[in-house]
Amino acid sequence: MANHIFIRKKIKSFNKKISVSSDKSISIRSILLASQAVGISKISNLLQSEDVMNTLKSIKKLGINYSKKGNIYKIYGFGLNGFNIKKNITINAGNSGTLARLILGLLVKIKYKVKLIGDKSLSKRDFSRVIKPLRLFGATIKSKNNTLPIEISGTDFLRPINYNENIGSAQVKSCIILSALNTPGITNINSKSSRNHTELMLKFVKYPITIKKNINRETISLEGLNQFRSFEYCVPGDISSASFFIVLTILSNNSKMIIKSVNINESRIGVIKILNMMGAGIQFKNKRFYSGEKIADIYIKSKKNLKSVNCPSNLNSSAIDEFLIIFLVAAKSNGISKFKNLGEMNKKESKRLDLAVKFLKLIGIKVERIKNDIKIHGNPKLSLSGNYEIKKFLKDHRIFFLSCITALTLGGKWKINDKDSINTSFPSFLKILKTLGAKIN
Ligand code: S3P
Repeated sequence: MANHIFIRKKIKSFNKKISVSSDKSISIRSILLASQAVGISKISNLLQSEDVMNTLKSIKKLGINYSKKGNIYKIYGFGLNGFNIKKNITINAGNSGTLARLILGLLVKIKYKVKLIGDKSLSKRDFSRVIKPLRLFGATIKSKNNTLPIEISGTDFLRPINYNENIGSAQVKSCIILSALNTPGITNINSKSSRNHTELMLKFVKYPITIKKNINRETISLEGLNQFRSFEYCVPGDISSASFFIVLTILSNNSKMIIKSVNINESRIGVIKILNMMGAGIQFKNKRFYSGEKIADIYIKSKKNLKSVNCPSNLNSSAIDEFLIIFLVAAKSNGISKFKNLGEMNKKESKRLDLAVKFLKLIGIKVERIKNDIKIHGNPKLSLSGNYEIKKFLKDHRIFFLSCITALTLGGKWKINDKDSINTSFPSFLKILKTLGAKIN
């Protein structure tokens, strides 16, 4: 079957209530944590995507069973270091940096060798950021050039570490936290602020962990080897997936949307703050808590007269996966938007900063780039009519989503390749677009 789609018409106005798929980061973490709990954990609303299925397959290879009934997955944990393998094995993390980096943290005590592999995109990504702390804990790691494949062998002689995490990477922070669970003594992480789902989930299962917040940094301390019981968890909607529909609504004509039950954790809502600085007027209503995470329904309306933004770089980590779609709003706003220190974007599923610059130029927007800072010269009258295609984007799901939203809001005749990339994070993406009236062939 063809693996591309065509969009040749803008979307007409809509007024709809939708749900987006469940949060990917939280889904992966809930499985990994359940694999370390004592007893049968029940997780509902788990995201049904490739990254999450690869997480389930990985724990299964490590000797942890799971079953599914309706909307609920049961995970049969044997407690900390409960992985049960009798020979060297290989785990395939597919496209998922989160799975690859977090699961390494759970393998610091493993008795056999575990080889970690991934797809073409993941195999290009840098793992030195986790290899360094894992070696400090005492694990033995073999890797050429700090990329996959990585072979890890654990040890019974783990030592707790004090680590300064200066990238602002939740994957690195979480890898260290998960390593600390199996390590005697107190591990301390002084980290540049980043998403805190792992910490909140540990609090939710009543694991003793302390978090002290300073300005833009946090200090996390936990003592390892405290067993915790199995738990019941419900995964909320994904703000990263929602952001594409938020921008679709903002840039469409006379449209309204409510997105139900989305995670609005403070460490994830940079996109909302930045879009509201541009005049988007997005509102959270019906705020509540699900399994220790804050959620809300998101209300969005179409907006004209959007203004440019001088984006404070302390919001970078809380909007890191959303800059692509934020740039589209900047392209359609009045004035020059400025974004700084976005080097981390080039360390994702594709080199997203490089691709974003190419993308904006392709749609006729002037972009100035100095190293990892960019200025986008917005054009409120921007409207497209030519033929467009992005050929090489390493099947990055978020570039696919960005292309669809651009085609539906700005026009032009688009061929969009690598449709199956949506399965990474948001398999129902095209189906939801069609319910809003989008014409997609
Ligand atoms: C993630 C953290 C972010 C984000 C990624 C998911 C996570 O990466 O870009 O999509 O689940 O912890 P970094 O931690 O590398 O910034």
